[in-house]
Amino acid sequence: MRILVVGGGAREHAIVWRLSLQEGENEMFCAPGNAGIAELASCVEIHPTNIIELADFAQSLSMDLTIVGPELPLSLGIVDEFQKRGLPIFGPTQTAAQIECSKAWAREFFAKYDIPGPKFAITFNKQETLKTIKQNNWGYPIVLKVDGLAQGKGTIIAQKKDEVEDFLEHAFIQKTYGIAGEKIILEEFLEGIELSFQVVTDGYKVMPLASAQDYKRQLDGDNGPNTGGMGSYSPSVYMNLETHQKIMNSIIIPTVQGLENEGRLYKGVLYAGVILTKQGPKLLEYNARFGDPETQAIMPRLQGNCIECLQAAIVGRLHDIKLEWKKEACICIVLASKGYPDSYEINKEISGLEAASEIPSVQIFHAGTKKENGTIVSSGGRVLSVTATAPSLSQAYERAYSAIDLIHFDGMQCRKDIAVNAIEYFKQKQ
Ligand code: GLY
Repeated sequence: MRILVVGGGAREHAIVWRLSLQEGENEMFCAPGNAGIAELASCVEIHPTNIIELADFAQSLSMDLTIVGPELPLSLGIVDEFQKRGLPIFGPTQTAAQIECSKAWAREFFAKYDIPGPKFAITFNKQETLKTIKQNNWGYPIVLKVDGLAQGKGTIIAQKKDEVEDFLEHAFIQKTYGIAGEKIILEEFLEGIELSFQVVTDGYKVMPLASAQDYKRQLDGDNGPNTGGMGSYSPSVYMNLETHQKIMNSIIIPTVQGLENEGRLYKGVLYAGVILTKQGPKLLEYNARFGDPETQAIMPRLQGNCIECLQAAIVGRLHDIKLEWKKEACICIVLASKGYPDSYEINKEISGLEAASEIPSVQIFHAGTKKENGTIVSSGGRVLSVTATAPSLSQAYERAYSAIDLIHFDGMQCRKDIAVNAIEYFKQKQ
C-alpha cells in the first residue's frame, strides 16, 4: 500500500511510526515531514495547505490512503478535493470540520443538540462584548475565544476586565487574528479536570481511542502562556467506565448523529476536549483531527491493525474493527526551543538522540527538526516529543526524563511536571 501522511510535527511522526509497524508491504510518504519522519517515509516538499499539489501528488502515485494531521488543510477542504478525485483520505470534509474551524457555529450546534457545555454568547464588536459580559454577570474568570483557527492562540481565560479589553483590542481593533477574530465566543468558566477524549468515526459507528490528558501551558504548575502543548500522558487517571459512558452518551453520540442530521456526515478523528464538572462531563470544544501531543502518548499503546481501522472509517465499515490498547501507561514530554511559544531560536545542533532512544520503550518523535550536513538541528518551536511506555505512569515518567537527560540542544526547555498530578492522584486512590 502507498500511504501519505500530511503534516510535519511529532503527531505526524507518531502516526507514521505506528503505521510503519503494521505488517505488509507499505510505502510511506509524508508532506512535508521532518528529520525523524525521513527515517521511515519519503518526505515530500509540499506545504500542508497546498491541497491541490497534495492531491496531484497523491493522484500521480495512486495513493491508497492519505491521513491528514493538522486542521488547516481540513478547513481548506483537502478531504473534498481528494474525494472529488476518488482518492481515499481519512479526515472530515470542510463542512464537517466546521466543528473545529468555527467555534461560533459549533457552540450553536451543541446548543441545538443539547450537548452539555458552558453557558455562552457570541459577539461581534468590543462594546457589545463588554455589555454582554456585564449583563450575563457570570463573574471572573471568563473565557474568550476567537471564532476561527488561531494556532492555539485564540483563547484566553481572563481574570479581570483589563485582560478582556486587551483581548478585544487585539481581535476587533488590531485584527491580530484576521477574520478568525471577527466573532468572539464568551463562555462561562467551568471548574474541573480536563481530559482529551478521541474517537474514530465513519459517520455512524464510533470507536473510542485511549483517553489522554495534555498540558497546554509553558511552565510547571500550569503557569505561563498557552502553547501548542508541552506534554501528555495516556490513559487519563480520571477516566472510568461511568465517565466513559457519560461522555459517549451525552457528548459524542449526539454530536455524530447531529452532524449526520445536518448533512455534515463526519468521518475521521473527532477529539473532544472534555471537562469533568460536579454536574458531569461537559464539552469545552472539539478538534477535527488527532490531538497533539496526545497522539504521541496513545500511538505507543495502540494494538491492532490501525491501517484497517482508518480505511474502515473511510468506507463506513467501522463496525468490523476492534482496536486494543496496551495496559501500560505512556507519557510524552515536549522539548522546545528557547523563546517558545514566542519567537524562538532555531538551527541548534541536537545531540544524544541515539543514546536516548536506546532506553527500552522510549520513542522519540520529531517536530521542528531538519538534517544539515548529517547533523540534526532544530527548526521549530516544539522540537521533539520524548515518549516512554511502562507498567506504571511513575515508571514511564522516570524513563522519559532519563531519556531527556541524554538529549541536548542550546536553549532546550521542557516542563518537569508532566503527569505529576496524575501520579499523585493515583497514589491517593490506592
Ligand atoms: N492538545 C490540543 C490540541 O491538539 O489541539
